[in-house]
Amino acid sequence: MNIVIINGSPGKNGTTAKILELFVSCLWTYEFVNIEYINLSEFDISHCKGCCQCYKSGRCFISDDAEMLSEKIEKADGIIIGSPTYASNVSGILKDFIDRGHFVIEQLLTGKFA
Ligand SMILES: Cc1cc2nc3c(=O)[nH]c(=O)nc-3n(C[C@H](O)[C@H](O)[C@H](O)COP(=O)(O)O)c2cc1C
Repeated sequence: MNIVIINGSPGKNGTTAKILELFVSCLWTYEFVNIEYINLSEFDISHCKGCCQCYKSGRCFISDDAEMLSEKIEKADGIIIGSPTYASNVSGILKDFIDRGHFVIEQLLTGKFA
């Protein structure tokens, strides 16, 4: 089983990371689990332009890391997303990825553990 863990904090070693590391240490005990840990702050993810071309083509025309990360999620059986609370919402970098990552329009998370 492949699990993708996403740290949506700009800080790689902050509070969010500490919580996600607890998930990692717990999941590692299962032999059948493969974990991919992603620090979102290490990747290039532009703002969504709102063109909705992805709705027709299944891909975003912007050339950055969003499509590559979305493909990892698509192939995963489960996903764990961590974010600091910023102004009662998720972090800006995570919101950019949610907007760009086909989460809503194409329901990328359908059928996955999350
Ligand atoms: C710009 C900004 C906005 C924040 N807004 C909130 C908030 O609305 N509510 C809250 O409880 N904490 C808020 N916080 C505190 C962070 O959520 C908290 O420090 C979090 O543990 C940081 O996680 P990190 O160490 O993984 O980055 C905010 C922090 C920042 C920098």
